[in-house]
Order: sequence, then C-alpha cells, then structure tokens
Amino acid sequence: MTNYDTPDTKIRWICFVAVCFTHTLMAQDTSDHQYTSEAIAAGGRVYVQQCALCHGPQGDTVDGINLRRGVFRTATSDDDLRQIISSGAAGGRMPAFDLREEELNGVIAYIRAGFDPSGVAVKIGDPARGKALFEGKGECANCHRVNGIGPRTAPDLSEIGLLRTPASLQMNLLDPASALLPINRPVRIVTRNEETIVGRRLNEDTYTVQVIDSRERLRSLLKTDIVTYEISESPSKQPTTLNSDEVADVIGYLLTLRGLQ
Ligand code: HEC
Ligand code: HEC
Repeated sequence: MTNYDTPDTKIRWICFVAVCFTHTLMAQDTSDHQYTSEAIAAGGRVYVQQCALCHGPQGDTVDGINLRRGVFRTATSDDDLRQIISSGAAGGRMPAFDLREEELNGVIAYIRAGFDPSGVAVKIGDPARGKALFEGKGECANCHRVNGIGPRTAPDLSEIGLLRTPASLQMNLLDPASALLPINRPVRIVTRNEETIVGRRLNEDTYTVQVIDSRERLRSLLKTDIVTYEISESPSKQPTTLNSDEVADVIGYLLTLRGLQ
C-alpha cells in the first residue's frame, strides 16, 4: 500500500490541483475566440438549404472555390464572408442572401469548422489590422522574423500560414505551454569550456546540435563538447494579452504568411 499522507505527496498534489485550475481557466478563455458548436450545427442546416445547390455538399463544385477547405477567391476574414453572403458575388451568379444574424454567423462557423459539426471554428479577423497588431501592440515582431525582417530568437513565421491550422495558431497565442512543439523547446547548454548557451534548437542529430543563442548567433555544437544539456518543457513566452477580436485579426494576418511568392 502506498502511504498518501507523506508531506511530500501532499505538496505535489496541491501543485497538480493548481495546474488543473489554470488549465480550466485557459479553456474557458478560448470560448469567445471561436464559434460555438450550436452555431456550427445551425450553420450546417443553413448551408444545406441555401448554399449546397451551387457549392455542393463538400463545398467544392464552384470552380476555384473550396468552402470546406477555406479556399476562397477574394475573401480572407469572417467579415469578408459576411459581406459576400449578404451582397452576393460574381455579378449576381451568386445571389445576395438576406439571412438573420444567427444564420449568417452559423454558416460562417460551419465553413470555418471545415463542415465538421464537431470541429473547432476559430474566428478569423482582418489581416491588415492583424499586421499592425503584430508589429505594434502585440509585440510579436520583437521576437519573430517575417520575410527577412526581425530577430532570429523565435521561429521565423514567413510560411506559418502554410504550416499551421487556425486552431493551432490560436492555441499558441492563448496557451503557449500546450502548443509548444518539441523542436521549439528552449534549451540551456553548458559546454566543456564552461560557456552557458541559452537558446532555441534549429536541428539536432546523434552527434551535434544547432542552436540560435540569445544573441541571435547560430551555434553548432558537438555533443561530446557538452557537459549539461537541459530541454525546458515550458515555453519562453507568455500567453498574449490581446483581446479576442485582436487575436482573430492576428490569426487572419498569420494565415496570409505563405512565403515570398
Ligand atoms: C446560385 C448559386 C450560388 C449559391 C446558391 C451560393 N453561391 Fe456562393 N458562389 C457562387 C459562385 C458562382 C461563386 C464564384 C464567384 C466568383 O467567381 O468570384 C461563389 C462564391 C462564393 C464564395 C467566395 C467568394 C470570394 O470572392 O472569395 C463564398 C465564400 C461563397 N460563395 C459562399 C456561399 C454561401 C455561404 C452560400 C449560402 C449562403 C452561397 N455561397 C450560395 C454561387 C452560389
Ligand atoms: C518573447 C518573445 C515572443 C513574443 C513576444 C511572441 N513570441 Fe511567438 N514564439 C516565441 C518562441 C520562443 C516560440 C517557440 C515556442 C516557444 O518557446 O513557446 C514562439 C512560437 C510561436 C508560434 C508557433 C510557431 C510554430 O512553429 O508553430 C507562433 C505562430 C507565434 N509564436 C506567433 C506569435 C505572435 C502572433 C505573437 C504576438 C501576438 C508572438 N508570437 C509573440 C517567442 C515570442
């Protein structure tokens, strides 16, 4: 039998409860950053009645458009979608729809959830406002590099719109700890010459590790020269303090980052 009453276990138990508690708060936090599952389900019904006739059950029957996968012609943000659905498109080949606010929100939610009633539909805001927040108030550009501009201490985001889903981008902003990828874990290395290097791994194989140090220098180290090598489980950044509309705008901007074309 294990003795659960040792002081040591008690302390660990208290820590565990504290972690759970913060995580519940975080989970609640995401709620106004995305559409509810009721909205998605209601939107599915609107879609079948009003849109499927032309766009098809999978959203891919109009040339060059795939609503389920989020491929549009001109639209980027949720407001763009709102505008197109309410005003029509292509000189009337898509008619204007006079939907109630909940129906309009619902059909956008359904599109953003990838037509999956149990999916996650993250709100997508305006990329231009998002870019301004990225470079200004959001302080993202203090750490991240985009298209050759900015520091190298954090991952380069020039192609992040091709690599990540809206849901994973949102997770990184609201709860960096649970979004931390293994390769992005901060490292602290002490070498044989007693140098301490704190930074971010770019690459690692059996014999070497490449690190960007805190002064943005690329360091390639032989593992035989390393005395201690610690990989942190916690991210080197805090959850963003931007509000839900601002987060939606920043996600809108990140989705447009698809490398230099
Ligand atoms: C009568 C046929 C028709 C119906 C019904 C219809 N659409 Fe369309 N839709 C089109 C056509 C055609 C286009 C392509 C416009 C173009 O070529 O620019 C389009 C384009 C779009 C686009 C992309 C616009 C852009 O510029 O990025 C979206 C989003 C869209 N439709 C959503 C919807 C939704 C949501 C509904 C239901 C509320 C709907 N459509 C109903 C025919 C239709
Ligand atoms: C203090 C520096 C810092 C700031 C400020 C910062 N980040 Fe990060 N970000 C990082 C680091 C470091 C990582 C790598 C993972 C980690 O350590 O959390 C990261 C990871 C990311 C990722 C995930 C990259 C991937 O490969 O999936 C995205 C997306 C991102 N940040 C976007 C942003 C945005 C948008 C902002 C502004 C709202 C921001 N970051 C602000 C340091 C920062």
